[in-house]
Amino acid sequence: MKITRVKGRLPGPKSRELLDRWHRFEADVVGFQAPIVWESASGCVVTDVDGNRYLDWTSGVLVTNVGHCHPHLVEETQKASARLLNNYECANEYRIRAAECLVRALPEHLDKCFFLSTGSETIEAATRLMKRKTGNFEIVSFEGGFHGRTTSAASLGGMPGPKHRYGPTLPGVIRMPFPNPYRDPYRWCQEGPEFRGYFDFLDSVLMANSTGSLAGVIVEPYQGAAGFVFPPKGWLRKLEEWTRSKGMLLTLDEVQSSYGRTGAMWAMQHEALTPDIVTIGKGIGSGVAVSAVASTSDIFSCLSKGEMSSTLGGNPVASAAVTAVLEIMEEEKLADRAECMGRYMKPKLWKLADQCDYLGDVRGMGLVMGLEFVKDKKTREPAPELIRPVIEGCANHGLLVGAVGMYGNVIRVAPPLVITEEEIDESVAILGQVLRELKI
Ligand SMILES: Cc1ncc(COP(=O)(O)O)c(C=O)c1O
Repeated sequence: MKITRVKGRLPGPKSRELLDRWHRFEADVVGFQAPIVWESASGCVVTDVDGNRYLDWTSGVLVTNVGHCHPHLVEETQKASARLLNNYECANEYRIRAAECLVRALPEHLDKCFFLSTGSETIEAATRLMKRKTGNFEIVSFEGGFHGRTTSAASLGGMPGPKHRYGPTLPGVIRMPFPNPYRDPYRWCQEGPEFRGYFDFLDSVLMANSTGSLAGVIVEPYQGAAGFVFPPKGWLRKLEEWTRSKGMLLTLDEVQSSYGRTGAMWAMQHEALTPDIVTIGKGIGSGVAVSAVASTSDIFSCLSKGEMSSTLGGNPVASAAVTAVLEIMEEEKLADRAECMGRYMKPKLWKLADQCDYLGDVRGMGLVMGLEFVKDKKTREPAPELIRPVIEGCANHGLLVGAVGMYGNVIRVAPPLVITEEEIDESVAILGQVLRELKI
C-alpha cells in the first residue's frame, strides 16, 4: 500500500490559511520550504493539516535521526517535564545521567561535556575554549563552512549568507579552501594520501595572514550547508596532523554529522580522528532543543567557575532527551542501520542521475547524501533555478526535500535513520517522476 497521499495542488486549503496567518505575525525570513503546515509526524512520515502524507528526506534539518516523535523520546521528555522544567546551573538527576551517557558514547579521549541549547552556541563555546586554552586568538576555518548564525559562528563560516552585509567579521579568522572532489580546479583532491600541494598552500596562507597568535582550527567532517561536500579520504587525518604541527587545537564540528548520520555514531570514527573539541547538536535531542560541547578534562580546566554557563543548557527535559536518544540509538543500532540503508539507497539515486541531464553528482555516506544539479554535466555550471521546481514537485507527489549548496543547487537526502526499504523505494520513485519532468 502507498504510504504517501497528496490531494490536489499544494498548499491545501487549511495550510494556505495558516501560512497567511503565520506570515502576518511572524517575520517571513526563513529559507524556501514546501508550502505546507506540518500537523504531526511519526518515524519517516509527516502529515500536514490538510491530511496529506509525505515521506521525509529532511529530518527537519538533519535533526530527527531517531525518527519523528519516537515513542521512547516522547515518553521520557513528558515524564521529565511533569517533574521539573528548569533549574538553571543547579544539578538535577536528568542532567547528571545525560552527561554520563554522552561521555560514555563519545570516543574515549573526550571525557567531559557541557550542555547548551543550539549548535551555534557550541561553536561559541568551542571558540572560547580554543582561545582560553592557548592564550591565542586566531582561528583557521574553511571556505564553504557553516557553523551557525551567531557572530563568531558566522565569522568562522565560509558561506556568504550568514555574514553578507553583517561585517566586519571577527578579527583573527583565517579561512582556507576546502577540498571539494566535484569542483577541484587545482586537483588537490587527487593528491592523497599526503595532499602535499594542498598543505604547502595552507602553510603559505598562514605565513601571509597569521600575526603569530594561532589558537585552533575548526572544520566540519563534511560541509553540510555548502552542499554535502565530502573531502577526499585521508584529508581530515592530515588536517589533524597539520593542526598539531602548528601547536593549534582542533575542533570538529559534528553538529550535524554525528548521531549515526554518516553510518557511524560519530563521523570522526571513519578516520579515527582525535579532535580536541567536538561540537554536537541536532540529532542529540532529535527535536528537543539541546546541544553539547565535548572535550578533555585538561582543556576544560582552562576555564574557571562561571566562565561557561547557559540559561537553558542542561535543563531536565533536554537532558532526559539526551539519555533517551542515546538509548534508542543503541537499542535500534541506528548508526549501522544508516550505513545499510544508505548502501541500499545510493545506487538507486545514481540510476536516477544517469537518466537525468541535470543531476550531476550523487555523493555522501550513510544517510546523508547530496544531489547536485547542474546545467550541463560537462561544464558543471550550477543550476540553482532547478531547486524550487524539485522541492515543489516532490512535495506535490508526497516527498519532502530541502536545499543547500554554496550555489544553492543541491538537494539534501537526509531522512530519519529509521527509514525502511519500502519507504526508500517509494520516495526514490517520486523523485524519479519529478526529475523526468524537469526542464531548464
Ligand atoms: C555543522 C553545523 N554547525 C553548526 C550549526 C548551527 O546550529 P544551530 O542552527 O542549532 O545553531 C549547523 C546548523 O545547521 C551546522 O550544520
